[in-house]
Amino acid sequence: MLRNSRYLKQAVISKYSAPAGCGSVFSIFQRSLYSTAPDFEIGSNETKINGQVIARDEWTNITPTVLSKVNRKLHLQPQNPISIIRQLIESNFQDFKTYNEFSPVVTTKQNFDDLYIPKDHPSRTKSDNYYFNKDTVLRAHTSAHQLQGLASGAEKFLISGDVYRRDEIDSSHYPVFHQIEGFFYLDNDISKLQADLKRILAKETPNIEVIDDTIIKPENPYQSCHTPEAVDLISAHLKHSINSMIRNLFADEKDLKVRWIDAYFPFTSPSWEVEIWYKGEWLEVLGSGVVNQKIMNQAGLENKIGWAFGMGLERLAMVLFGIPDIRLFWSEDRRFIDQFTPGKINKFVPFSKYPPCIKDISFWLPEDEWHENDFCELVRGVAGDIVETVELIDDFRHPKTSQRSLCYRINYRSMDRNVTNDEINEIQEKVRSVVQDEFNVKLR
Ligand code: PHE
Repeated sequence: MLRNSRYLKQAVISKYSAPAGCGSVFSIFQRSLYSTAPDFEIGSNETKINGQVIARDEWTNITPTVLSKVNRKLHLQPQNPISIIRQLIESNFQDFKTYNEFSPVVTTKQNFDDLYIPKDHPSRTKSDNYYFNKDTVLRAHTSAHQLQGLASGAEKFLISGDVYRRDEIDSSHYPVFHQIEGFFYLDNDISKLQADLKRILAKETPNIEVIDDTIIKPENPYQSCHTPEAVDLISAHLKHSINSMIRNLFADEKDLKVRWIDAYFPFTSPSWEVEIWYKGEWLEVLGSGVVNQKIMNQAGLENKIGWAFGMGLERLAMVLFGIPDIRLFWSEDRRFIDQFTPGKINKFVPFSKYPPCIKDISFWLPEDEWHENDFCELVRGVAGDIVETVELIDDFRHPKTSQRSLCYRINYRSMDRNVTNDEINEIQEKVRSVVQDEFNVKLR
């Protein structure tokens, strides 16, 4: 099931039965690597999370695995591709206020009721969400914070965060992912709307092929409280903003297409989903629409009209950085995170998931001169692709003889299989003897 389709009107029949562990009593106490305070505790009567105590009931289906992710905040780890993408998106909406620190622990009122998601809507089911109890969930989308954003008084804002959904397991689905929500409103006044649209259209026309044959129809209507003219203007504003952002995100891509398709969300009307044609396939990237006026009114903004969008960050990051598996974003392996730099999109270089085997070699040099590259070349010649790194760990001169001794650490690791210690010992022996013969060193 597609991520953004969760809030669509069609009944979605979950393939999944009630999760294992529902109602079971287990206690766990865990510290995150990223904070010094204990994050959570699942007791028999209550769940503690970041100091908040939440009673359990028959709705409770929260798991330790998912709770252990709450404080990771990948969208705020500067080197993580999720955060890099978030910042690139933010840079497209320069005068928007950003909210990136709202807690993912929200009420069902925030996640569903405030957004007019019907009581019997399939997106509310226990098999689709992580409930602390019947009134408290891990947010399933950043839309849960729309009213908080509006309450802040900002007319344009972005909200990013980790969101949680029970879902299928494959290389592009994970129970936690990240979204960014955009929200924008203006006076519901035709001349002001026209002026603002003109202002953004004047900036630049995104050089991108846009396929949009959506028309307003009964299944995806204007809201009765809006004039078609106002909706057309605010929609044009939304579409232009999104098309430009996509063009900028995929700056290097020549054959880029954006497709707008009709959708349904209880919190917007008309509503659209956006797909991007990238390297031969359509990627569904966001849901959007003209904000349900009841939400605006709830915030005391009866005279305003707005648009909103919600976009998943993982899928974008996977295609832009060439990351093949969604679990990699959570990797604490330096070989993953060290490949990325804030503000930059670069292609991920795969590394092995097999364990390393480390061997040291030290020797006395016959003379002072030494060319490390020749040594590395020789090691590669003997060991092939199984060598991952060669690192000088000691360079020592004997005080009396003034002979120089070097010690290298060779890290052996296969990209595609487990290697045995015996196998590596044999290679290391060969390296030793070839180094000795070739460079005339004295092995230690
Ligand atoms: N919250 C929706 C989802 O996660 C996306 C969305 C946000 C749609 C804002 C419209 C407006 O599927």
